[in-house]
Amino acid sequence: MLLLKAANFQDIEKEYLFVRDMPVDENGFTNPWHGISRADFDCALQTMLDFEAGWNLPDGFVPETFLFLWNDDEIVGQFRIRHHLCESLRTGAGHIGYFIAKPFRGKGYAKEGLRLTLEIARSIIPEDEIYLRVNKDNPASLRVMMANGGYIAHEDESRYYVRIKR
Ligand SMILES: CC(C)(COP(=O)(O)OP(=O)(O)OC[C@H]1O[C@@H](n2cnc3c(N)ncnc32)[C@H](O)[C@@H]1OP(=O)(O)O)[C@@H](O)C(=O)NCCC(=O)NCCS
Repeated sequence: MLLLKAANFQDIEKEYLFVRDMPVDENGFTNPWHGISRADFDCALQTMLDFEAGWNLPDGFVPETFLFLWNDDEIVGQFRIRHHLCESLRTGAGHIGYFIAKPFRGKGYAKEGLRLTLEIARSIIPEDEIYLRVNKDNPASLRVMMANGGYIAHEDESRYYVRIKR
């Protein structure tokens, strides 16, 4: 069964292996902790929890919740919710980012994970619409957004800017 759980210290060993193996950047979904050592991961996880609480944010960052998508006792993906828009998010990456690990792709996990993420996001995000962005060469992700009620608000040369009504 698929379940979203916020980052937490109880699950640290599985979270560690998942985050360590996520690429640095795939289709604009970035991971500053790729390849991190276990010794350094306590600090990285604390950073995720701090970001959720709005503590120690880098300049220009808004609070962000880190969620893991679990299939039974295995982590299959990560979803992130940025709590509100700032100018760079409004014109850029928007509220939500997500990643499904390669062995688990093509099984509908991103679609269901985004559906579950939107349920949480609706109780956090104050704006009337949820903003997402996707590269034009990432049709799988665009389908995930469309399956969750997304529409293309506008586009530029390389990206679609998708909105989902609350
Ligand atoms: C994009 C990503 C999240 C999709 O995850 P996933 O679990 O495989 O997605 P799902 O199985 O839920 O759905 C994928 C949909 O895309 C479709 N799809 C997959 N590859 C496709 C392709 N090359 N062209 C068109 N559609 C494609 C699937 O058929 C499915 O749609 P359908 O169910 O309507 O047939 C995953 O590939 C990923 O993590 N990529 C790297 C990070 C990333 O791109 N994040 C999103 C940034 S906007």
